[in-house]
Amino acid sequence: MSNPIISIEKLKIETRNGSYPLVNNVSLEIKKGEIAGLIGESGSGKSLTARAVMGLLPVNMKNSGRIVYKNSDLSALSPKDHRKFLGKEIGIIFQDYRASFTPYIKIGKQITETIRTHYPIGKKEARNQALEVLGKMGLDSERVYCSYPFQLSGGQVQRASIAMVLALKPALVICDEMTTALDVMNGEKVLNYLEEVRKETGCAILMITHDLALAYKRTDRIYVMQQGEIVEEGLPEQIRCQHQHPYTKKLCACLLSLPGENFIINERVNDL
Ligand SMILES: Nc1ncnc2c1ncn2[C@@H]1O[C@H](COP(=O)(O)OP(=O)(O)O)[C@@H](O)[C@H]1O
Ligand SMILES: [Mg+2]
Repeated sequence: MSNPIISIEKLKIETRNGSYPLVNNVSLEIKKGEIAGLIGESGSGKSLTARAVMGLLPVNMKNSGRIVYKNSDLSALSPKDHRKFLGKEIGIIFQDYRASFTPYIKIGKQITETIRTHYPIGKKEARNQALEVLGKMGLDSERVYCSYPFQLSGGQVQRASIAMVLALKPALVICDEMTTALDVMNGEKVLNYLEEVRKETGCAILMITHDLALAYKRTDRIYVMQQGEIVEEGLPEQIRCQHQHPYTKKLCACLLSLPGENFIINERVNDL
């Protein structure tokens, strides 16, 4: 068995004037080429967990435990050294994409410059890569490349920001509610491309979502989080059919399964 790319061990996150931990005793690992799903209701600590891996926790918070990425304990690094892992090693796709682009620089220039910061390639090659990845997102690549962010719709900007992260071919991709703001068709396009990237590069993926159907369909292993703790973990099929924890039961009760691989949600899971 290959070693995990990322191994989170007993992660605890609390505010500096700490009353109680916001994330507690969270352990999970993801191997090369594996997609792990982190699911749970809103406020359960999913995004904070992702932020700790990135070294981007809010300033009023601190973390303990270990975050081992390819044999380096990221949690022991200075913020400056931690940030060196971002981009080519660890890429994150946030739900809130608005901060991804500088408003007064064209999208294409921003993507090519980002690629060239991490890879020693010429402008022309970087441009071709940027156009390719924009096209894979289902965007009119030439037009988007030459546009300022304000000239595009929110969904288009979001897909361009996903393109920018994936263009770097990170070894670990963290997707935090990546498709929540997209319509179903575009969400599927983006997820299919992510799958393509995984096959091509063998990257590991942490897919954070409150969408259980998506987690069943797209992940290799699911971790269920509630109030800052992992309460259950297992293969998607186990979580669906043999869950033990009452919270997982409650989550699964919101999902009506249909024959085959199709699922529909009859209630918003994050409204539980
Ligand atoms: N900057 C912050 N300051 C104080 N509390 C925060 C901050 N960010 C998140 N929290 C709290 O931490 C908990 C977990 O938040 P989060 O990780 O964003 O949840 P999720 O992503 O699962 O919806 C929530 O109770 C939230 O209110
Ligand atoms: Mg969140």
